[in-house]
Amino acid sequence: ENAALLKAIIENAIDGIITIDERGIVESINPSACRLFKCTPEDVVGKNISVLMPPPDRERHDEYIHRYQRTGVPHIIGIGREVKGLKKDGTVFPFRLAVSEVQYSGRKIYTGFIHDLTREKEAEEKLKEYA
Ligand code: HEM
Repeated sequence: ENAALLKAIIENAIDGIITIDERGIVESINPSACRLFKCTPEDVVGKNISVLMPPPDRERHDEYIHRYQRTGVPHIIGIGREVKGLKKDGTVFPFRLAVSEVQYSGRKIYTGFIHDLTREKEAEEKLKEYA
């Protein structure tokens, strides 16, 4: 069945996948995203997505979403951005964020795809040291 296939794909995805509602409240998080943020689904489902980011984005993310809904001008949707995430243990890490807007059972949700960049950034820093 289609829903079961989709669930299996999301559960086994290498990248993190998080969905939020139109107000930024987390509705789902896959195992990869849980591993990256060192959290459980219970830690974040029902909370604002901003709990997973450091300042200054943490204080501004609601406004980012509002502005997009007001203006229709995306800054990440369909573009992507390198941003910083906050793990439950307080560690900040870089990742590539892709966001898409999805119409799902008559309402709007946003899906975030999270690709960890920790290793790439470490390699980049090492290279700079030798440059
Ligand atoms: C917009 C940061 C996670 C959904 C933005 C912007 C930034 C940002 C910087 C736009 C700033 C600007 O206007 O220039 C972050 C950070 C995250 C994060 C640091 C770390 C956890 C997510 C996730 C989702 C999401 C996981 C979706 C599930 C959105 C939406 C917008 C937005 C819908 C407005 C649309 C747009 O600007 O394209 N975020 N975000 N964000 N973000 Fe996030």
